[in-house]
Amino acid sequence: MSASAAAPARKPAAPAIFSPATLARTDALLRKMSLDEKLGQLNQLFQFRRSSKLDGMVRDGKLGSVLFVADPVEINRLQHLAVEGSRWGIPLLFGSDVVHGHKTIFPVPIGLAASWDRGMVERVSAIAASEARADGIAWTFAPMVDIARDPRWGRIVEGAGEDAYLNAAMATAQVRGTQGPRLGTPDRLLATVKHFAGYGASEGGRDHDAANLSQAQLHNVYLPPFRAAVKAGVGSVMSAYMDLNDVPATGNRWLLRDVLRGLWGYGGFVVSDNNAVNDLVSHGFASDKRDAAVRAFKAGVNMEMASYVNAYTHLRAAVDKGAISVPEIDAAVRPILATKIQLGLFDHPYSDPAKAREIAAQAPAHQEEARIAAERSAVLLRNEGALLPLDRSIHRRIALIGPMAHARQDILGPWVFAHDPKDTVTVAEGLRAKLGDSAALAVAAGVQLKRDAPSPFESIFKEKDAPTWDAARAAGEFDHALALANNADVVILALGEKQDMIGESASRSTLALPGEQQRLMERVVALGKPVVLLLMNGRPLDLAWANTHVPAILELWYPGAQGGAAAANLLFGDASPGGKLPFTWPRNVGQIPLYYGHNLTQDPSEQDRRYWNEPSSPLFPFGYGLSYSTFAVTDLRLSKPTLLAGESLAASVVVENTGAVTADQVVQLYIHQRHGSASRPARELKGFERVTLRPAERKTVRFTLGPEELSYWSSATHSQVNEASTFDVWVGTDAQAALSATFQQQ
Ligand code: BGC
Repeated sequence: MSASAAAPARKPAAPAIFSPATLARTDALLRKMSLDEKLGQLNQLFQFRRSSKLDGMVRDGKLGSVLFVADPVEINRLQHLAVEGSRWGIPLLFGSDVVHGHKTIFPVPIGLAASWDRGMVERVSAIAASEARADGIAWTFAPMVDIARDPRWGRIVEGAGEDAYLNAAMATAQVRGTQGPRLGTPDRLLATVKHFAGYGASEGGRDHDAANLSQAQLHNVYLPPFRAAVKAGVGSVMSAYMDLNDVPATGNRWLLRDVLRGLWGYGGFVVSDNNAVNDLVSHGFASDKRDAAVRAFKAGVNMEMASYVNAYTHLRAAVDKGAISVPEIDAAVRPILATKIQLGLFDHPYSDPAKAREIAAQAPAHQEEARIAAERSAVLLRNEGALLPLDRSIHRRIALIGPMAHARQDILGPWVFAHDPKDTVTVAEGLRAKLGDSAALAVAAGVQLKRDAPSPFESIFKEKDAPTWDAARAAGEFDHALALANNADVVILALGEKQDMIGESASRSTLALPGEQQRLMERVVALGKPVVLLLMNGRPLDLAWANTHVPAILELWYPGAQGGAAAANLLFGDASPGGKLPFTWPRNVGQIPLYYGHNLTQDPSEQDRRYWNEPSSPLFPFGYGLSYSTFAVTDLRLSKPTLLAGESLAASVVVENTGAVTADQVVQLYIHQRHGSASRPARELKGFERVTLRPAERKTVRFTLGPEELSYWSSATHSQVNEASTFDVWVGTDAQAALSATFQQQ
């Protein structure tokens, strides 16, 4: 192998977040402020209900930000206290987790990622931002870009899955949609990229457990989506809860200073995750709250998010003792004030009822986008005998069975606060609206789902479902569902996980369908009717049995408020599924972690890599998804056979719709570097494009491969390298694409 050429340090050229005018105004303000007023800006508190304690803190300038106040009237009341009651009239920054919609609920992030549609993701992020801003919220704690390679981890639902490139693309789209072309764009929000960094690699998929990642894994896999968000101009970064290589992320100077600010040139501020500064003591890292405050501050946490008491109240004593200097405090406060100025909060601190009415009037258009987003997120996993789309002339008696059939809350997924349940279209309602009198629709839940241990968020997300059925009712409902199924031309099984079975503090040790759903499915299939499995979930579930016994499987994720309308369109062919898996779907939980971007072994046949009782291959590969049409991807061309390190080459393919209906395909490009200073993954995604094609229509799709795609962080040189080597290129419709070419880099 030839010597590796050191690539220039990876400077993402983070754009300047603040205008010169903003910075001048910030410094003028900072010069006037007392130390205590400056320190106040570093505190953020949870607030669900009105409290006199909070009012006093706001008036005294002891808070810079509040999160979770949802009522626009209360937001304005507090803002009046801040602006009119405090000495310099510094507005509060109201934050909330606007994760996949505010009033209008879109598919959960893992579903949006499955659309592989940057433009759509940018649009829905912009809609969510406009609705939240109209309510007085100026800051969202999204996007989450944590790479998730262990689906036991509940928060897999909040990100874009296992892949660095897809996560980076989604992060860019979400930041652009949320913030607009620059921070301070009207009707948009300040975005937060979280949780910096490595949270998705927590051991055993247990939430908040330690993550141990090599420098190469960090630089090549876990950090790139954050870097992409910084490059897209994200205005805030949230530090993670867990230990990263024995140093909690919230006290991790290497992450927060050396990488984020030093290597990437990030100029915005860092907020801790909730109570993460206080928790430096529980981690066994800081000796007490004061030590925790000083170490988080020194590590680079500007603002502390806390539920009850901020550890940062100890910073005053630390300054008095000389442990922290006033210029250090100024440096921490500056980007927070600059953000408030740049967001326009000093000029327009209050939410405007006229603006709120204007945004509310767009609700029908937003719901339409939500339906389109749900359709574009859906992934068709199996379709034996082209059972889907259903045929109205044959499928006249339909049984919709399963706990997700009527789900009004669970169809939305986690992180939903401001939505009106009346706006939700359930699957049963969507089908009824589509079919009218043309078909008989019978609906039964069959089984009930319930978490064994209650969710710690039960009170926040206000679980509204019916009480647990007793044994007699459960048996009756089960038999009733089977009777309905037995009387139908086709059975649609709506199964999955309740929204509190996924998300934060919702890890699972199994991927089995929860509750009695597997038994229900097996009994329904035994009736011998055509069965469609409609899934609502946020992690891969154990479909090994379903994949051999159920002819059609359609993954909807948690599709959001228009999920029922989208499901009906997809089931009856008014929309064709075109989504693709954002993660590798394992055969069973014992294969975890299973991801396509693993390194090769010494054995090219992969014989050694398999389990003796199970292949090492997935049930469905990353990037996989079927369509109601068929496609051919041909004619892979590279613009040159050889290039010099630092140059770029172009790759192109022709994709053709060879089927009978207009449909979408996601063309994906993967590479492999054959040799180098370090082993490289078997395949890595380095480009994709979703295209819509009419029958017989062809399109040329082009990709560029240059230093950004071809360089990597080498464990041998401890640096970013762009090496002389042979590269394989594959282009196709999932991570097992066969159409290939090679080129040399010199
Ligand atoms: C979560 C964050 C979230 C914050 C505020 C934390 O528990 O980890 O993702 O933004 O709460 O809701």
